[in-house]
This record gives sequence, structure tokens and C-alpha cells, in this order.
Amino acid sequence: MTHLISQKATALTGTLKVPGDKSISHRALIMGTLAIGQSRICGLLEGEDVLNTAHAMTAMGADISRAENGDWLVYGVGIGGLCPAEKSLEMGNSGTGARLIMGLVATYPFNTHFTGDASLSSRPMKRVTDPLEKFGAAFDGSEGMTLPLTVRGIMDPLPIDYEIPVASAQVKSAILLAALNTPGKTTVIEKTPTRDHTERMFKHFGVEIDIQEGPEGTAITVTGQPELAAKEMFVPTDPSSAAFPTVAALITPDSDIIIENVGMNPSRTGIFTTLQEMGADINFMNKRQECGESVADIQVKYSRLTGITVPKSRAPSMIDEYPILCIAASFAEGDTVMRGIDELRVKESDRISAMVTGLNANGCMVTEFDDGMTVTGKAEIAGGAAVNTHLDHRIAMSFLILGMATEKPVEVDDAAVIETSFPGFRALMNGLGADIKDKP
Ligand code: S3P
Repeated sequence: MTHLISQKATALTGTLKVPGDKSISHRALIMGTLAIGQSRICGLLEGEDVLNTAHAMTAMGADISRAENGDWLVYGVGIGGLCPAEKSLEMGNSGTGARLIMGLVATYPFNTHFTGDASLSSRPMKRVTDPLEKFGAAFDGSEGMTLPLTVRGIMDPLPIDYEIPVASAQVKSAILLAALNTPGKTTVIEKTPTRDHTERMFKHFGVEIDIQEGPEGTAITVTGQPELAAKEMFVPTDPSSAAFPTVAALITPDSDIIIENVGMNPSRTGIFTTLQEMGADINFMNKRQECGESVADIQVKYSRLTGITVPKSRAPSMIDEYPILCIAASFAEGDTVMRGIDELRVKESDRISAMVTGLNANGCMVTEFDDGMTVTGKAEIAGGAAVNTHLDHRIAMSFLILGMATEKPVEVDDAAVIETSFPGFRALMNGLGADIKDKP
């Protein structure tokens, strides 16, 4: 376990780049594997979650390597060309990797065994096994359909029409990936829009995909068994990772930073909208398009924040950012109300419970509800307590940011898990003016 301590930071200044987008990186490796020939990925996140996806793709026949300039090269096998993995696919901490690849292999005529760490092994998989069963796949899972789990793929899958009962890009993407090796047209309907990186990547590779907005939601139809040619892919940096230095600068007096090249896909930027509504001084500069995704440089300055009620409808566009929003809210004037986010209870940890416990221990004011929490801000926060990260990278990073503005240092019990999504977090934050170090 890596115990870290974060203590009061000086003004944060400088220009930085956070690592590549985790969601897009998983998808880039998977799509490269499904294309024929050599795809090149620029800006891949080299975090543990994504590397596990790379291992899984290699185990099923892709040839994946890292070029000297840091690009990743994927020599794909084509749709229908995957071979069975000889061993279990070890997905570590990654719900995205596990769920997307479960969808991918469901329509191949072989069995695939999935394992994960303690956090992933407690997360619900029924949300993906239910629709995948409709293609004809079968599953042997642990109690309550959790990992370890075997997908028994189907030789002759049938296309499906499926309305997703929970707002989840992972479920949507698992179905869309299963549809790729299924003859005919598969349609997924989502009532609430979620991140659309899979759809954009399908378009980039020339998959026939039709997206219709209607009164029932968005219907996404994919025509199966296309032949895909290799492509160049560019991965913008991760807005979910950028949210950490953003909030750090907002709560540390006299800060002024620029975060370059941040992904600005509208299905991901709810946190910036929310922070701006709270009074944050955030400017988007140099807006541009790269490989079907919007990108911008973001300037963030220390700001006096005011609490707001976050609209429930915004949740999918900032679902991973509620932990770090709680930290901003702790320094805002008044209440920040975050409801309609019960999905947070089935992330890498129960994030509502983990945040409430850690905030209370450090002298913040928070009220817990079944479906969220309200944080009441204070001008001065004591800090001084150790926080259990529950194998959750975003809990670890959020509390290290809290410690940058509390009276006494904040400690996290296990920061190693940060490697899943944000390698180099500590060095990058310290380079800006933070003081995060090993517990003596
Ligand atoms: C992700 C979707 C979200 C998000 C996760 C990444 C994705 O999960 O929390 O970190 O890449 O599709 P859900 O689909 O469970 O909402």
C-alpha cells in the first residue's frame, strides 16, 4: 500500500498536460484489433486499466507494440478474426475494460474467462449479461453475476433491439461491440444520452451506424460484420483527469494554470459547466477538432465558489467527477446539492459512502442521501484525517486535492490505484506547487 500525505499547497502555476482519455484509449485498442492491418494510436493512456485491455487484445490475436515516439501500433485481426484466449483475461480494476470486452467476445464461438481485483469483482455485470444473452451468449458468473465470470460466446448470434434500463455507456458499448460480429442490424435505445466515444470511433472506422433522436430517446443502429481497415487514431487528454488539477487551482489561492489538449466531447464536460455555474474562472481556448473529438486548452484561476444544485440530467456527462466536485463544494459558499447519482454506489467503490466518510473525517460538512449528497461549504477546513480509498483512484486523487487547501494534511491509505487512470499524478501536481509526499 502506498500511503501518501498532501499538505497545503502554494499557488499553482504552469502549463500541463494530463494523460490520455481512458474511455477512448480502451476503445482505440479494441477497434484497432478489429481492423485489418496496422492502426496507429497517438496519445494512448498508459494506465493499468488500459494496459490490461491491451493484454486482453494481444491474448486474442492482436499484435500490439509501443513505438519509440510513444505511439501505439495495433496490428488487427479483423472482425470475426479473434481467437480464444489461452488464459483468463485479467481486467484488474477496470469496469470499462471488462464490460466492453465481455460484449466483444459474446458473439464469437468460444469461451472467455474474466477475472478482476477485489473492487471489480464486486461490481454488477448483469447489466451487460442481460442484453448479451439476447444475442445468444451464455454466462457462468459468481453469485449475483459478478467476476470471476466466463462468457460462453455464440457461433450464430442474432441481432437484437434493446432499450437500456440504466444510463451507461459501458452497457451501450458492450452491445454495440457484440453487434459488430452479428449479421444484420442491432439497435440500442438509450433514454438518457451517455458518452458517445464508441459511436464516434465506429464512424471513424467506417462502420455503418445510424443515430436517430426520438421521443423515446436515442436509437443507435449498427449493421454487423463490416470489414474495417486500419486507421490513425488520436486520443485527446482525459477531461476526467483534467478535473483534478482544475479543482486544485480553484481552491488554492493565487493559482493560474493552463491544461493543454483536453477532450471537450459534450457528453463529458458537465463538470466544467457545473464549476462555471459555481463561479469558477475557467476559459476554453484554442478549440479544435481532432479525429472526430473536440479538444481545447483550459485556463483555470483561483475562484470564490458558490454552491448550486447540480441538475440530475447532467449526471451522465460528469458521472466520474462527483468525488472531485465534492472537494470544490467543500470550499464553496452555501450548499452544493448532488442528487440522482445512485450509480455512484456501483463504481470502483461506493463513491457516495467513501466521500461522505472521508469528508466528515476531515471536518467538511456533508449530508448523505440514498441517491447522492449535499455538501455545505466552509471557508476553513481542518483536514488531518486518513482516508480509506477502497481501491478507487478517484477517491484517492480527490482527497489528495483536499489536503492542498486544508489546515492540516490529509492522508490517503492506498494511492497505488491512481496508476489505473492517471500515471504521474503526484509528480505532475507537485510540479504545479502541490506538496504530496510519502507518509514518513
Ligand atoms: C465509461 C462509462 C462510465 C464511466 C466509466 C467509463 C466508459 O461508466 O463511469 O469510468 O468508458 O464507457 P457507466 O457506463 O457505468 O456509466
